[in-house]
Amino acid sequence: MRIIQISDTHLSPGKAHFTDNWAPLADWIAQQRPDLVIHTGDVTVDGADVEEDLRYTAELLRGLGARFRAVPGNHDVGDAGHVSQPVSEERLERWRVHFGLDRWVEDVEDWRLIGFDAMLLGSGGHEETLQTRWLEAVMHDAGGRRIAWFLHRPLFLGRPDESDTGYWSVKPQPRSLLFQLLRRHAVALVASGHLHKAHDFVRDGTRYIWAPSSAFLVGPAMKAPPMPGENRLGAVVYEFGGRTIEARIVAVPGLSRHWIDDVAQEVYPRRPDK
Ligand SMILES: [Fe+2]
Ligand SMILES: [Fe+2]
Repeated sequence: MRIIQISDTHLSPGKAHFTDNWAPLADWIAQQRPDLVIHTGDVTVDGADVEEDLRYTAELLRGLGARFRAVPGNHDVGDAGHVSQPVSEERLERWRVHFGLDRWVEDVEDWRLIGFDAMLLGSGGHEETLQTRWLEAVMHDAGGRRIAWFLHRPLFLGRPDESDTGYWSVKPQPRSLLFQLLRRHAVALVASGHLHKAHDFVRDGTRYIWAPSSAFLVGPAMKAPPMPGENRLGAVVYEFGGRTIEARIVAVPGLSRHWIDDVAQEVYPRRPDK
Protein backbone atom coordinates (compact mmCIF):
# COMPACT_ATOMS: atom_id res chain seq x y z
CA MET A 1 0.00 0.00 0.00
CA ARG A 2 1.71 3.15 -1.20
CA ILE A 3 0.73 6.50 0.24
CA ILE A 4 2.16 9.85 -0.75
CA GLN A 5 2.10 12.78 1.62
CA ILE A 6 2.24 16.23 0.11
CA SER A 7 2.02 19.47 2.02
CA ASP A 8 1.88 23.24 1.85
CA THR A 9 1.12 23.64 -1.83
CA HIS A 10 -0.19 27.20 -1.22
CA LEU A 11 -2.21 27.33 -4.45
CA SER A 12 -4.52 30.06 -5.67
CA PRO A 13 -5.86 31.19 -9.04
CA GLY A 14 -5.44 34.83 -7.96
CA LYS A 15 -1.95 34.53 -6.46
CA ALA A 16 -0.17 32.13 -8.76
CA HIS A 17 3.32 32.57 -7.30
CA PHE A 18 3.78 28.83 -6.64
CA THR A 19 1.49 27.37 -9.30
CA ASP A 20 4.41 26.37 -11.51
CA ASN A 21 5.29 23.66 -8.98
CA TRP A 22 1.92 21.92 -9.29
CA ALA A 23 2.45 20.32 -12.73
CA PRO A 24 5.77 18.63 -11.85
CA LEU A 25 4.29 17.46 -8.54
CA ALA A 26 1.17 16.06 -10.23
CA ASP A 27 3.26 14.32 -12.92
CA TRP A 28 5.51 12.76 -10.32
CA ILE A 29 2.54 11.58 -8.24
CA ALA A 30 1.03 9.92 -11.33
CA GLN A 31 4.29 8.06 -11.93
CA GLN A 32 4.35 6.82 -8.33
CA ARG A 33 0.88 5.23 -8.69
CA PRO A 34 -0.10 5.76 -5.06
CA ASP A 35 -3.12 4.11 -3.48
CA LEU A 36 -3.79 7.29 -1.56
CA VAL A 37 -2.50 10.87 -1.45
CA ILE A 38 -2.61 12.73 1.87
CA HIS A 39 -2.29 16.51 1.88
CA THR A 40 -1.30 17.90 5.27
CA GLY A 41 -2.61 21.41 4.78
CA ASP A 42 -1.96 24.90 3.57
CA VAL A 43 -3.47 23.54 0.42
CA THR A 44 -4.33 27.12 -0.58
CA VAL A 45 -2.78 30.56 -0.38
CA ASP A 46 -5.80 31.97 1.44
CA GLY A 47 -8.76 29.62 1.50
CA ALA A 48 -9.56 31.01 4.94
CA ASP A 49 -10.87 34.17 3.25
CA VAL A 50 -11.06 33.37 -0.47
CA GLU A 51 -13.40 30.53 -1.33
CA GLU A 52 -12.17 30.46 -4.91
CA ASP A 53 -8.80 29.26 -3.61
CA LEU A 54 -10.52 26.23 -2.06
CA ARG A 55 -12.60 25.48 -5.15
CA TYR A 56 -9.64 25.78 -7.53
CA THR A 57 -7.30 23.66 -5.42
CA ALA A 58 -9.86 20.92 -4.73
CA GLU A 59 -10.31 20.67 -8.48
CA LEU A 60 -6.56 20.29 -9.00
CA LEU A 61 -6.41 17.53 -6.38
CA ARG A 62 -9.34 15.72 -7.97
CA GLY A 63 -7.40 15.85 -11.25
CA LEU A 64 -4.55 13.78 -9.77
CA GLY A 65 -6.25 10.54 -10.69
CA ALA A 66 -5.57 9.14 -7.23
CA ARG A 67 -7.79 9.05 -4.18
CA PHE A 68 -6.87 11.78 -1.72
CA ARG A 69 -7.50 12.96 1.82
CA ALA A 70 -6.62 16.34 3.25
CA VAL A 71 -6.42 18.09 6.60
CA PRO A 72 -6.57 21.88 6.66
CA GLY A 73 -3.78 24.30 7.47
CA ASN A 74 -3.94 27.77 8.95
CA HIS A 75 -4.19 29.34 5.51
CA ASP A 76 -7.15 27.12 4.62
CA VAL A 77 -9.45 27.56 7.64
CA GLY A 78 -7.79 30.16 9.88
CA ASP A 79 -6.14 29.45 13.20
CA ALA A 80 -7.15 29.15 16.87
CA GLY A 81 -6.97 32.56 18.52
CA HIS A 82 -5.83 34.35 15.37
CA VAL A 83 -6.54 38.09 15.47
CA SER A 84 -7.90 38.50 11.94
CA GLN A 85 -8.44 34.92 10.73
CA PRO A 86 -9.73 32.84 13.65
CA VAL A 87 -10.85 29.33 12.79
CA SER A 88 -14.66 29.51 12.72
CA GLU A 89 -17.63 27.31 11.89
CA GLU A 90 -18.15 29.34 8.71
CA ARG A 91 -14.57 28.74 7.54
CA LEU A 92 -14.76 25.04 8.46
CA GLU A 93 -18.00 24.72 6.56
CA ARG A 94 -16.40 26.18 3.44
CA TRP A 95 -13.51 23.73 3.74
CA ARG A 96 -15.92 20.82 4.15
CA VAL A 97 -17.88 21.79 1.04
CA HIS A 98 -14.76 21.47 -1.09
CA PHE A 99 -12.59 18.92 0.74
CA GLY A 100 -14.92 16.93 2.95
CA LEU A 101 -14.56 16.53 6.70
CA ASP A 102 -11.44 17.95 8.28
CA ARG A 103 -11.00 14.75 10.31
CA TRP A 104 -11.01 11.24 8.93
CA VAL A 105 -9.86 7.65 9.38
CA GLU A 106 -8.28 5.33 6.81
CA ASP A 107 -7.63 1.71 7.75
CA VAL A 108 -4.83 0.29 5.61
CA GLU A 109 -3.07 -3.02 6.18
CA ASP A 110 -2.72 -3.29 9.99
CA TRP A 111 -2.69 0.47 10.42
CA ARG A 112 -5.23 3.09 11.34
CA LEU A 113 -4.38 6.45 9.76
CA ILE A 114 -6.09 9.34 11.52
CA GLY A 115 -6.20 12.81 10.01
CA PHE A 116 -7.35 15.65 12.21
CA ASP A 117 -7.62 19.41 12.26
CA ALA A 118 -4.70 21.04 14.08
CA MET A 119 -6.30 24.45 13.62
CA LEU A 120 -8.98 23.56 16.16
CA LEU A 121 -6.45 22.76 18.90
CA GLY A 122 -6.82 25.35 21.63
CA SER A 123 -9.73 27.08 19.89
CA GLY A 124 -11.96 26.20 22.83
CA GLY A 125 -15.15 25.90 20.81
CA HIS A 126 -17.76 23.26 20.17
CA GLU A 127 -15.89 21.91 17.15
CA GLU A 128 -12.77 21.29 19.21
CA THR A 129 -14.81 19.36 21.78
CA LEU A 130 -16.38 17.25 19.04
CA GLN A 131 -12.99 16.54 17.50
CA THR A 132 -11.44 15.57 20.85
CA ARG A 133 -14.25 13.09 21.57
CA TRP A 134 -14.02 11.71 18.05
CA LEU A 135 -10.23 11.33 18.29
CA GLU A 136 -10.47 9.44 21.57
CA ALA A 137 -13.17 7.19 20.11
CA VAL A 138 -11.38 6.30 16.86
CA MET A 139 -8.19 5.52 18.77
CA HIS A 140 -10.02 3.44 21.32
CA ASP A 141 -11.71 1.51 18.50
CA ALA A 142 -8.51 0.91 16.52
CA GLY A 143 -8.79 -2.80 17.23
CA GLY A 144 -5.08 -3.39 17.76
CA ARG A 145 -4.03 -1.62 14.58
CA ARG A 146 -0.95 0.58 14.73
CA ILE A 147 -1.82 4.24 14.71
CA ALA A 148 -0.51 7.07 12.53
CA TRP A 149 -1.55 10.70 12.87
CA PHE A 150 -1.63 13.24 10.06
CA LEU A 151 -2.05 16.91 10.96
CA HIS A 152 -0.85 20.27 9.68
CA ARG A 153 1.09 21.68 12.59
CA PRO A 154 3.84 19.67 14.31
CA LEU A 155 3.31 18.80 17.97
CA PHE A 156 6.67 20.35 18.91
CA LEU A 157 9.83 21.74 17.35
CA GLY A 158 12.59 20.47 19.64
CA ARG A 159 11.10 18.71 22.67
CA PRO A 160 7.63 17.57 23.70
CA ASP A 161 7.86 19.61 26.91
CA GLU A 162 9.03 22.84 25.25
CA SER A 163 7.21 26.08 25.98
CA ASP A 164 4.98 27.99 23.57
CA THR A 165 6.67 28.45 20.18
CA GLY A 166 3.89 30.73 18.95
CA TYR A 167 2.89 30.17 15.35
CA TRP A 168 5.15 27.21 14.73
CA SER A 169 3.98 24.25 16.82
CA VAL A 170 0.93 23.10 18.81
CA LYS A 171 0.40 25.11 22.03
CA PRO A 172 1.55 23.44 25.27
CA GLN A 173 -1.94 22.87 26.72
CA PRO A 174 -3.51 21.00 23.78
CA ARG A 175 -0.12 19.38 23.16
CA SER A 176 -0.07 17.80 26.62
CA LEU A 177 -3.56 16.37 26.06
CA LEU A 178 -2.48 14.93 22.72
CA PHE A 179 0.59 13.41 24.34
CA GLN A 180 -1.58 11.62 26.90
CA LEU A 181 -3.45 10.02 24.01
CA LEU A 182 -0.28 9.40 22.02
CA ARG A 183 1.31 7.53 24.92
CA ARG A 184 -1.81 5.61 25.89
CA HIS A 185 -2.17 4.22 22.37
CA ALA A 186 1.54 4.09 21.44
CA VAL A 187 1.08 6.20 18.31
CA ALA A 188 3.73 4.96 15.89
CA LEU A 189 3.86 7.87 13.44
CA VAL A 190 3.06 11.58 13.56
CA ALA A 191 3.23 13.21 10.13
CA SER A 192 2.86 16.96 9.76
CA GLY A 193 3.53 19.93 7.47
CA HIS A 194 3.43 23.70 8.16
CA LEU A 195 7.14 24.29 8.76
CA HIS A 196 8.21 23.93 5.11
CA LYS A 197 11.10 21.82 6.35
CA ALA A 198 12.00 18.18 5.92
CA HIS A 199 12.74 16.18 9.03
CA ASP A 200 12.47 12.52 10.02
CA PHE A 201 13.26 11.43 13.57
CA VAL A 202 12.22 9.08 16.37
CA ARG A 203 11.42 10.27 19.88
CA ASP A 204 10.33 7.93 22.69
CA GLY A 205 9.35 5.24 20.20
CA THR A 206 7.25 7.50 17.94
CA ARG A 207 8.46 8.42 14.49
CA TYR A 208 7.92 12.03 13.45
CA ILE A 209 7.98 13.13 9.84
CA TRP A 210 7.88 16.76 8.81
CA ALA A 211 6.80 16.77 5.19
CA PRO A 212 8.49 19.43 3.10
CA SER A 213 6.41 21.90 1.13
CA SER A 214 6.22 21.56 -2.62
CA ALA A 215 5.72 25.32 -3.01
CA PHE A 216 8.34 27.38 -1.21
CA LEU A 217 11.08 27.53 1.40
CA VAL A 218 11.06 29.75 4.48
CA GLY A 219 14.09 31.97 4.93
CA PRO A 220 15.40 34.27 7.66
CA ALA A 221 12.97 37.11 6.93
CA MET A 222 10.18 35.04 8.47
CA LYS A 223 11.99 35.02 11.82
CA ALA A 224 11.25 31.41 12.69
CA PRO A 225 12.74 30.21 15.98
CA PRO A 226 15.69 27.82 15.78
CA MET A 227 14.51 24.38 14.74
CA PRO A 228 15.93 21.24 13.19
CA GLY A 229 15.08 20.07 9.69
CA GLU A 230 16.29 20.69 6.18
CA ASN A 231 15.36 23.50 3.84
CA ARG A 232 14.25 21.46 0.87
CA LEU A 233 11.14 20.96 -1.24
CA GLY A 234 9.58 17.58 -1.95
CA ALA A 235 7.13 14.99 -0.69
CA VAL A 236 7.02 11.80 1.41
CA VAL A 237 6.52 8.26 0.12
CA TYR A 238 5.16 5.65 2.55
CA GLU A 239 4.90 1.92 1.96
CA PHE A 240 2.56 0.30 4.47
CA GLY A 241 2.81 -3.48 4.68
CA GLY A 242 1.26 -5.44 7.53
CA ARG A 243 2.45 -3.73 10.71
CA THR A 244 5.54 -2.24 9.13
CA ILE A 245 6.13 1.04 7.41
CA GLU A 246 8.82 2.42 5.18
CA ALA A 247 8.95 6.16 4.74
CA ARG A 248 11.23 8.35 2.68
CA ILE A 249 11.31 12.10 2.22
CA VAL A 250 12.07 12.55 -1.46
CA ALA A 251 12.86 15.27 -3.95
CA VAL A 252 10.34 15.86 -6.72
CA PRO A 253 11.95 16.59 -10.08
CA GLY A 254 11.26 19.97 -11.59
CA LEU A 255 10.22 21.94 -8.49
CA SER A 256 11.39 25.58 -8.45
CA ARG A 257 13.00 26.63 -5.20
CA HIS A 258 10.83 29.63 -4.38
CA TRP A 259 11.49 31.52 -1.14
CA ILE A 260 8.57 33.13 0.65
CA ASP A 261 10.90 35.89 1.82
CA ASP A 262 11.04 37.25 -1.75
CA VAL A 263 7.28 37.54 -2.23
CA ALA A 264 5.83 37.69 1.29
CA GLN A 265 4.59 41.26 0.84
CA GLU A 266 2.56 40.28 -2.21
CA VAL A 267 1.33 36.86 -1.15
CA TYR A 268 0.80 37.50 2.57
CA PRO A 269 0.71 41.26 3.08
CA ARG A 270 -0.28 40.56 6.67
CA ARG A 271 2.11 38.32 8.51
CA PRO A 272 0.37 34.96 8.81
CA ASP A 273 0.56 34.92 12.61
CA LYS A 274 -0.90 38.44 13.04
FE1 LIG B 1 2.56 26.49 4.73
FE1 LIG C 1 0.81 26.46 7.90
